[in-house]
Amino acid sequence: MNIVVTGGAGFIGGNFVYYELEKHPEDKIICFDALTYAGNMETLDEAMKNPQFVFVKGDIANRDDVDKLFNEHKPDIVVNFAAESHVDRSIENPGIFLQTNVLGTQVLMDACRKYGIKRYHQVSTDEVYGDLPLDRPDMFFTEETPLHTSSPYSASKASADLLVMAYHRTYQLPVTISRCSNNYGPFHFPEKLIPLMIINALHDKKLPVYGEGINVRDWLYVKDHCSAIDLIIRNGKVGEVYNIGGHNERQNIQVVKTILKELNKPESLIEHVTDRKGHDRRYAIDPTKIHNELGWLPATKFDDGIKATIKWYLDNEDWWQRIVSGEYQSYYEKMYSNR
Ligand code: NAD
Ligand code: TYD
Repeated sequence: MNIVVTGGAGFIGGNFVYYELEKHPEDKIICFDALTYAGNMETLDEAMKNPQFVFVKGDIANRDDVDKLFNEHKPDIVVNFAAESHVDRSIENPGIFLQTNVLGTQVLMDACRKYGIKRYHQVSTDEVYGDLPLDRPDMFFTEETPLHTSSPYSASKASADLLVMAYHRTYQLPVTISRCSNNYGPFHFPEKLIPLMIINALHDKKLPVYGEGINVRDWLYVKDHCSAIDLIIRNGKVGEVYNIGGHNERQNIQVVKTILKELNKPESLIEHVTDRKGHDRRYAIDPTKIHNELGWLPATKFDDGIKATIKWYLDNEDWWQRIVSGEYQSYYEKMYSNR
């Protein structure tokens, strides 16, 4: 099969590229990515050596780019990871979130209708459900929880989900949607909580914790997210939504203290800063449906995954140093402009 992975130069998409190349060596993986600030060709260095892998630079919201992609590569499956993904950036500048996350989804699905496709999979987020109260540990997001968004980011993701379901109902496009909790692991861009804290701690810089740090996130090791999506695109039921999460809830302050402890750094590096506007309190996924229907279970506990992640950042300093210095953005031009 030909599988298009949009946003494959980003964090989760990149991990998914490697997961698929290893698990299904018979499939061809075509990564389609605009290489925004969050896209990094260095993440795909190893994949570029694999004859089953192709990289195509393009924007999911650009019809010419997308038509060219479908004409040349005739995908059987499209997995859409491409998105603007950072809540704080969405608060500063919502426009690009609507452009990429909503209109980009529409352009991709229009191409799927035009050229025919076995499956369109939308990678969504638990943030579409809004947040849960901190004092109700018995409450979890199920697939039936109403969409109730807080940030321009989550509103754009929820809008895209509605459009995906509308394309299924109206045009019978064979779609699935997954809504996953917070991911962590290798290749995570260092503007997000876990990699930012690891890198700041390594530099003995302050660790900026928003507000009191009591907000709760449900952390999933990125490879477990990849295994869930792999099951959904192959065995999931068309027209269905699947929540993905592994019951690994932690307060932000706990996560930060764990990182400091692992790196042998003092808690005095923690600095409480002004809270995020509209800050969601707690996310927590009920993954019963994907477990019962597809037999999915996460393989990695938070305590092991965070150690593996810290080790990855220690072993791959070149990767993140070039992000911190901004060098990675000229890498594509340097390596690929004359090929
Ligand atoms: P990321 O920001 O690390 O990567 C996004 C990738 O998309 C980048 O490579 C970027 O270059 C590319 N991209 C952006 N705009 C594009 C466009 N217009 N056309 C083509 N490519 C474009 O994001 P991530 O954390 O890997 O998230 C991937 C997906 O998973 C997103 O849809 C996000 O909403 C969803 N998600 C993320 C998390 C998480 O914890 N990070 C959790 C649940 C769901
Ligand atoms: P983030 O990694 O941005 O993911 P999301 O907002 O999608 O959950 O943030 C995770 C949590 O960490 C969130 O509650 C905000 C908080 N946070 C901080 O306290 N300090 C930071 O510097 C960042 C980036 C996030």
